[in-house]
Amino acid sequence: MLKNLIATVIVIGSLATVSVQTCAAEPHAVRQDIKLSPDVLNLLRAEMGEIAGGIQGIALSLAIADWKSIQETSTKIRASYIMEKKLTAAQAKELEQALPEHFKQLDAAFHQRAEKLGAAAAAHDPELTAFQFSRLLESCTVCHSAYAKSRFPGFSPPPRQGHSH
Ligand code: HEC
Repeated sequence: MLKNLIATVIVIGSLATVSVQTCAAEPHAVRQDIKLSPDVLNLLRAEMGEIAGGIQGIALSLAIADWKSIQETSTKIRASYIMEKKLTAAQAKELEQALPEHFKQLDAAFHQRAEKLGAAAAAHDPELTAFQFSRLLESCTVCHSAYAKSRFPGFSPPPRQGHSH
């Protein structure tokens, strides 16, 4: 069940892209931004906002060895509650079926990393927790750079400056 939660959120993001992407010729090269109905997009953004808040809290919790708080955040991330409440089972299933494979993989990796972060915190291991935290952050950037580049133009390469080799 937990696995479905964020999957649900994120899955949604892929909806509109699916029709465009699955028939596209380029298997790995070009990903497109997701295009969603306003309602669903708002849910996704709300969910992302929750996740972002949790992520920010982790930095401080780690510095002061507040392992419990990190574990709670890890659980919340894995359980992304908002979407869970608003989607019907049928919708969730439909979305799951519609997801591009690559998106599913990113989402699965994201969940795994949140879980590993929680485990590192449970072990009271600062170094491992810091490592898993960085891995979790990395999974945010990987998905955003693939599916939310318009929203976050910073994922595009920097403009060329002067001469280059
Ligand atoms: C598997 C894909 C995926 C993962 C993983 C992911 N995101 Fe996102 N996120 C998205 C997409 C797609 C959008 C763009 C939604 C849009 O078009 O506005 C987004 C948008 C956002 C936003 C903007 C929300 C708003 O209010 O508009 C924030 C903040 C955010 N993500 C934070 C995070 C953080 C922090 C992580 C990692 C801990 C993360 N996301 C992981 C797919 C992902």
